Amino acid sequence: MKTMDSIGKISEIMMMPLAAKSLNVAAELGVADIINQNAVHIDILSESMAVDKVILLNLLKVISLFGFFTIDNDGFVTNSDYSMFLMTNHPQSMRHFCRLFGHEYYNGYDGLLYTTKTTNSGFKHIYNKTLYDYLDHTPDRALVYDLAMRDFSRPVGKEITKTFATMFSDSKKIIDIGGGSGVITIEVLKQFDHLTGCIFDRDDVCTRNKDHLPESVKDRITLHPGDFFDSVPSGYDVYILKNVLHNWNDQSSSTILKTISRSIVNGRLLIVEPIVTKQDDSPRLIFNALFQSVICEDGTHPRDTSDIESLLNDAGFTVVRAEKLLTGHTAFELVKSTSM
Ligand SMILES: C[S@@+](CC[C@H](N)C(=O)[O-])C[C@H]1O[C@@H](n2cnc3c(N)ncnc32)[C@H](O)[C@@H]1O
Repeated sequence: MKTMDSIGKISEIMMMPLAAKSLNVAAELGVADIINQNAVHIDILSESMAVDKVILLNLLKVISLFGFFTIDNDGFVTNSDYSMFLMTNHPQSMRHFCRLFGHEYYNGYDGLLYTTKTTNSGFKHIYNKTLYDYLDHTPDRALVYDLAMRDFSRPVGKEITKTFATMFSDSKKIIDIGGGSGVITIEVLKQFDHLTGCIFDRDDVCTRNKDHLPESVKDRITLHPGDFFDSVPSGYDVYILKNVLHNWNDQSSSTILKTISRSIVNGRLLIVEPIVTKQDDSPRLIFNALFQSVICEDGTHPRDTSDIESLLNDAGFTVVRAEKLLTGHTAFELVKSTSM
């Protein structure tokens, strides 16, 4: 019995990437969008996407084992509660997250053995480029990256607006450093009509996203292209840095924090990061810890509270509040040490 259990467990784990890759391909093809609220026959589905009918059916059967899509005996496919989240316009869509994760990140994981031996980035080893260099060279995939970050960050945006409501009510101007497609700025501005916001990111990210801001807030948002290793704009009340530091090793993270510190006059810094806690780590944090070392810059490692606090203190910041969010991230509200 023990032998069968172990063999079963090993097979199960080794098959998991096949299910994840199937989910990735379903997201890439946009199957959930084509089906929408209807029951669509596999013949029509495969024809409309110009793919092989049998392979598509088998792929959908694999992910239906996990609750994605339902397939009846006559070959009609419908969306399930789970597969609805693969629809592009679902308010909590995860379609682009599946497209990015199951492609670039999975390919990067082919470098795991290399990372294990060297601690250097497996992604860079496989692609011969860092993640951001790769995105610079592949604009279509860079868009997928921006949209995946939007999928991933939406729930955090909602949480920080609630948790840090007083800080936002007391402010006039916010800036999101490495803000990507602007999901955090958008969520905050939707809740606080008196605020204006700036999204600071790489040139191409700002160019791609300037025409995709929602009507309701776009008049209050500016996009500022730049490099957070050089300088960021001065004079904002709240500087947000969300899911940025975990992409960088200690030396780079320290440079980013010092650049921001130089620009803050009276403002506050809000950092949101996946922080490992050693005792009560969720599976998501445990997966993320390994992810950072494999996909991100050479020498990037997961940080616990004391690791991040030492970086923050070194850059001249003092933590005034730290909150664990429901998403598993930790949010730190900071002021410059000299202004305390
Ligand atoms: C992991 S994403 C996080 C995006 C966003 N803060 C969020 O949580 O959804 C990191 C962001 O940092 C930006 N970034 C990377 N290098 C940068 C640089 N040198 N200067 C400015 N932004 C940069 C990327 O373009 C990307 O949008």
